This record gives sequence, C-alpha cells and structure tokens, in this order.
Amino acid sequence: MSAPGLFDRRLIFVLGKGGVGKSVVAATLGTAWARAGKRVVIAEVADQHRLSDLFANREETRNTPTELAPNLFGFSVDVDKSTEDYLAAHIRVRPLVDLLVRSRTFHNFAAAAPGLPELVTLGKVWELAMAVDGGRPVWDKVIVDCPATGHGIALLQTAGNVSELAAQGPVRDQAHRIEEVVKHPAATGIAIVARPEELPVTEAIDAAAALRADGFPVAATIMNGMTPRRFWAEDASVLGRVPGGDPTITAAVRSALRADHHARIEQAHLDELAAGTGTTPMVLPDLGPVVIAQSELALLADALDGAPRSLRPVGHP
Ligand SMILES: Nc1ncnc2c1ncn2[C@@H]1O[C@H](COP(=O)(O)OP(=O)(O)OP(=O)(O)O)[C@@H](O)[C@H]1O
Ligand SMILES: [Mg+2]
Repeated sequence: MSAPGLFDRRLIFVLGKGGVGKSVVAATLGTAWARAGKRVVIAEVADQHRLSDLFANREETRNTPTELAPNLFGFSVDVDKSTEDYLAAHIRVRPLVDLLVRSRTFHNFAAAAPGLPELVTLGKVWELAMAVDGGRPVWDKVIVDCPATGHGIALLQTAGNVSELAAQGPVRDQAHRIEEVVKHPAATGIAIVARPEELPVTEAIDAAAALRADGFPVAATIMNGMTPRRFWAEDASVLGRVPGGDPTITAAVRSALRADHHARIEQAHLDELAAGTGTTPMVLPDLGPVVIAQSELALLADALDGAPRSLRPVGHP
C-alpha cells in the first residue's frame, strides 16, 4: 500500500482535530492493510465506539479483539478493566486488588489521578503491539484511533511524563518501556489527519511540530475529504474565455469556475500541510454525504492503494 511513512511500522497512532475523519482514516488504513494480508487490529480509546458503526458490527466487546473483516479486528480499550489488570500485575495480592476495584473511592481516585486513565490505555495498546505467539508478533499492525488533538497528544505524552515524575519502581520502569516503544521511529508512526480547511491544517502543523519537539515519530499526514478535481488548468482557462450571452451557458460556466476555485483553495491547503509538516500527504477523496460503511472504506482504501487519476488533485499525480 502506498503509505510510505507508515509501511514498516507496527504501531500507528491516528491523530487530528475533532471531526476531521480520524476514525474513518484508521478504518481505511486497517482495510487496506488487512486486504494486503496483514493481521490488523484497530484500537479505540477514550470510550469511543465508531468501529461498530463503520463495520456494522453488533458485538460490543471490550478489551477483547473482535473480528470486523477478514484479517481486521477491533479492540475497544476499557479503562476500568485495564486499570484492574494493571493493578493485578503490580499488586500481587489478588484480594487487595478486588477490594480496590470494588471501592467507589478508588474509582473516583483513578478517574481523577493525573494521567492514570491515559497510562493504562497506552499500556493496553503497548501490550497489543508487543504480543507474541510462537515467537511471532500477534499483530502486524496496531492502529490507534486517538481522541482529538490535545487529548491525543496527552495520551502519547503520558508514558514520558510518568517515567519522568514517578518514583523509582515498577510503575516508572513500565512507563519507561512504553515510552521507548511509542517514541521508537522503527516501531511507531504517528499519522496526522486534516481536512482541506484552514483550522484543521493549522492544528495538524502545530501538532506535528509539538510532537516532533517531544521526540515522537511523526511519519505521515493524510488530507481527508479532498473534492475530486474536475478541471485541469487548461480547462479553467478555456472556461474563463467562454463568451457570455446564453444565460444557461453562463450559469453552467459560473458553476464550473466556482468548483475550480474551490478545488484551488483545497489544493492550497494541501500544499500548506505538506510544507508545514515536511511530509507528502496521502490524499483521500470526499465521498459526499454518504454514511460511511465497509463499501465506502473499500473505496477509500483503493484511493490509498493508488487512486484513479480523477480522484487526485493537480500536482499530485
Ligand atoms: N472522506 C470522507 N468522505 C465523506 N465523509 C467523510 C469522509 N471522512 C469522514 N467522513 C464523515 O465525517 C464525519 C467525521 O468522521 P470521523 O468520525 O471519522 O471523524 P473523527 O475525526 O474520528 O471524529 P471525532 O473527533 O469525533 O472522533 C463522519 O460522519 C464521517 O462519515
Ligand atoms: Mg473518531
């Protein structure tokens, strides 16, 4: 699949402004890799449940991989259950763990403890990425559908913060091991998603800079929802020279020129994303006002695999 920056990495974090299409992009990457024969799991975090809609999967499982399509699994991280697993791994006295997880005070504490929900979430993701069976990794690709930018960055930074701040001991050691994987440029790739509009692009550029400054491997950007370009540069100049007179033709030409103008604005945003992040963005087309389900994901995955020319904007053959 033509996702060069992400090709060799096992752990992929999909990040971006709220509503830009992170879940759709995570599902598209998963679809493309699964059909290329990779064993893929998409992890949903922060209590999101988009995968079940996208793949019309009725099963609601938490902390267990659910098959969504051949080779493609979903995994919804349950913070409470993960906290319990985490405590069980660190406090070896089981009755004490049971007592703790049954106590309301503990739940209030765990929800409020700075970074704890993020740390257990990241710990689950890390477990998926590190899982081996018979000496082979269980998953070729672990794709994390992150919450919107600020929370997504906080999720990534949490292991580093804990390993810096926690007292010496097993918690700090584990946070350090997680941080090493999450920052390892051969293991992990962060994919930042934007839409061809000003705010999502600015936020993507800022996120890339902040993450890189912190030592995270920003590996790719994805411009989601580009309007398929209908006119080439020559067409636009011909349209501009159509003589007036017939109102129907004038209206049609005006509408075509408007579409071309819109496409140019989107192209400018794409160029800005490329320049501002030092990446060559992957481009996904706007599918229009459809409900995105498996057949639409297959179309988007086709676009990643090498879109037909009509789906590609000028300048990105
Ligand atoms: N390429 C596309 N073409 C058409 N519609 C799209 C496309 N990508 C996403 N959408 C639609 O845009 C909306 C937002 O997409 P999605 O839920 O993936 O965004 P998100 O970034 O995950 O949002 P959130 O920040 O809420 O998690 C959805 O209704 C989705 O169907
Ligand atoms: Mg989402």
